[in-house]
Amino acid sequence: MNQPTASAIKHLNVPEFVKHAKLIEWVSEIAALTQPDQVYWCDGSQEEYDRLCQQMVDAGTMKRLNPAKRKNSFWACSDPSDVARVEDRTFICWAKKEDAGPTNNWIDPIEMRQTMDGLMSGAMRGRTMYVVPYSMGPIGSPIAHIGVEVTDSSFVVVNMRIMTRMGKDVYTYLGQDGEFVPCVHSVGKPLEPGEKDVLWPCNSTKYIVHYPETREIWSFGSGYGGNALLGKKCFALRIASIMGRDQGWLAEHMLILGVTSPEGKKYHVAAAFPSACGKTNFAMLIPPAGFESWKVTTIGDDIAWIKPRIDPKTGKTRLFAINPEAGLFGVAPGTNTLTNPNCMASLDSDVIFTNVGLTDDGDVWWEGMTKEPPAHLTDWQGNSWTPADGLAGNKAAHPNARFTVAATNNPAVDPEWDNPEGVAIDAFIFGGRRSTTVPLVTEARDWVEGVYMAATMGSETTAAATGKVGVVRRDPFAMIPFAGYNMSEYFQHWLDMGKKLSLSGAELPKIFCVNWFRKDENDRFVWPGYGENMRVLAWMLGRVGGSSAATENVFGLSPNYSDINWNGTDFSEKQFDKVISVSKEAWIEELKLHEELFEQLAHGLPPVLRETKAKLEKLLG
Ligand code: GTP
Ligand code: SPV
Ligand code: MN
Repeated sequence: MNQPTASAIKHLNVPEFVKHAKLIEWVSEIAALTQPDQVYWCDGSQEEYDRLCQQMVDAGTMKRLNPAKRKNSFWACSDPSDVARVEDRTFICWAKKEDAGPTNNWIDPIEMRQTMDGLMSGAMRGRTMYVVPYSMGPIGSPIAHIGVEVTDSSFVVVNMRIMTRMGKDVYTYLGQDGEFVPCVHSVGKPLEPGEKDVLWPCNSTKYIVHYPETREIWSFGSGYGGNALLGKKCFALRIASIMGRDQGWLAEHMLILGVTSPEGKKYHVAAAFPSACGKTNFAMLIPPAGFESWKVTTIGDDIAWIKPRIDPKTGKTRLFAINPEAGLFGVAPGTNTLTNPNCMASLDSDVIFTNVGLTDDGDVWWEGMTKEPPAHLTDWQGNSWTPADGLAGNKAAHPNARFTVAATNNPAVDPEWDNPEGVAIDAFIFGGRRSTTVPLVTEARDWVEGVYMAATMGSETTAAATGKVGVVRRDPFAMIPFAGYNMSEYFQHWLDMGKKLSLSGAELPKIFCVNWFRKDENDRFVWPGYGENMRVLAWMLGRVGGSSAATENVFGLSPNYSDINWNGTDFSEKQFDKVISVSKEAWIEELKLHEELFEQLAHGLPPVLRETKAKLEKLLG
């Protein structure tokens, strides 16, 4: 790293509330490298948020929405080239390539440091470097961890303030020598003296880089979501999955929800679905007709940090989960008052929308929000748009358009959502987006079989990442883009956790596999989904509590039609057969795909997974 120059240090502007020598030294090194005009240390206050938003409104990067429609809310549009995570530009730079494994991009860290030093050199010229201190999880929680992101994007700062616990309290907690994960972010668009900024600065060269050995994150060239809000995927999943393996816990791409039964018993469920496959929707589920006395509450919608600990209530070890985030960064298109009323209510005020349509009266619109589109609006690329454009295939909102909003805006937020101790998990659910083959719900017979189901999960790709949409790829644990180390070792870690916990007499959560997305001959979803998923959830909780019946099949345990509560719906046994049936031919083909995955992951693959596959093949006949 370059030596900080005297002038860089002089302009550090370290506030008196920052007492951490290593943090100050690191900020000064990055400032010397990136050469911003000034350094600003964020305090996380409302005044600071309002000021930065107003600056972006004045600059044209954001537009204030009509306060009569959506109070304190903003509309922003990214550069059309910067709309999603860039998986092919994401690197896990272990010293040894095998440690990244075959599913991650790898470049030697020595070479990568040269590349990044080159790109970052002078990258913040003409801009302000913001120092953003944040906690993933309630500050001081035994499950939480701290990060500090330096960024030249005020858009990133305001989003980080919503998505994390950001501000002065973090400096206080860090004290003089607390541990933090350093995160460097630049949009990669330095400004020459007098040069006018563009509305969405970014760079066509993009690098999202992780150095696992030193637990550092470096991101260059993008201002969007998971590429730039480094507390989210980069820290809370990639780096944290490594910390979890080393320290005996789990960092997962999972929502966490609470369910209260009519008898008043509260359960907690964590569910992993790939990006844009229904986590936010499931986490905010409103029980349908027939389930009025059930209640679902949201703890998290995207990431879970899970640590084992003795439950003081039972004296037994259990898995306790927190949501490390403080906000929702959710998919807008498809969200409406019928499919997800809690989500729509969460978006009433204090929201930042990115890449949705802007109506003529200063509100937002996206595909699927209302049946009838507005007669006219401004699309996400700033063009005039009418429903005729929609019919011609031009979308008003980008398919990966998102909203950023505080978790507390959700009317269904769980009272325990920021309990520093976390909530005890009763069940894990894994689910991909599969038009065929995978049935509505299956319960694993044991932990190992559950790990097998999660490890071999497939899903049709979505717009959450750049690349082709709608092709089935294996997405083990919904973590393919997010595991910070070798996927086979990740499977081993899950197996080890199960073994260790059961040896210590712990109550292990049950594991289920679901698929809301089976389609019929006419390409229509057979399962109504959304709130109706409650019926399946209630069956699963009945399995946990011992009240639901199930029948064993090749892949595990599934309900018969009569095992599910159908009060309030006319979903027929015939329709149910279509979503629960298992086709032998399709599964023979599916197992070939499992084999392909296992061949790809052969190095270090836990033998018990192959044994489980052999068992399934035998049962299949
Ligand atoms: P990330 O934030 O990208 O990690 O994704 P997420 O899993 O939170 O995605 P989200 O809940 O926002 O999923 C959005 C997409 O899933 C939209 O296209 C929804 O219409 C669709 N979706 C969600 N739940 C269901 C369901 O039960 N059935 C069907 N058919 N579609 C669903
Ligand atoms: C995902 O893609 O899984 C997301 C959105 O949750 S982003 O934060 O952009 O990665
Ligand atoms: Mn996600």
